[in-house]
Amino acid sequence: MNIRISLSVNGESCELLVPVHKTLLEVLREDLDLIGTKHGCELGECGTCTVLVDGAPVLSCIALPADLQEREITTVEGMADGARLRCRRAGGITYDH
Ligand code: FES
Repeated sequence: MNIRISLSVNGESCELLVPVHKTLLEVLREDLDLIGTKHGCELGECGTCTVLVDGAPVLSCIALPADLQEREITTVEGMADGARLRCRRAGGITYDH
């Protein structure tokens, strides 16, 4: 079963249709091509997959995107100059705030 989600990642909003069980880590890497967020244990133990949600650290391997709608997600790419969300390439819709 797929779910439509609306995320704000690195300052840009994006709407995607993803499987309901897909983690934030998978959406960032596979759907948005933000591969700076790394796979590690995928058990919520190592911290390799950490992103910021409203400025607080969250383990993206155990977070579901549907729970993070309307919150600001920042990846390592969002901390770099010139970072761009690749939502359009993933077939999603982007729009500025
Ligand atoms: S991959 Fe290890 S805590 Fe997420």
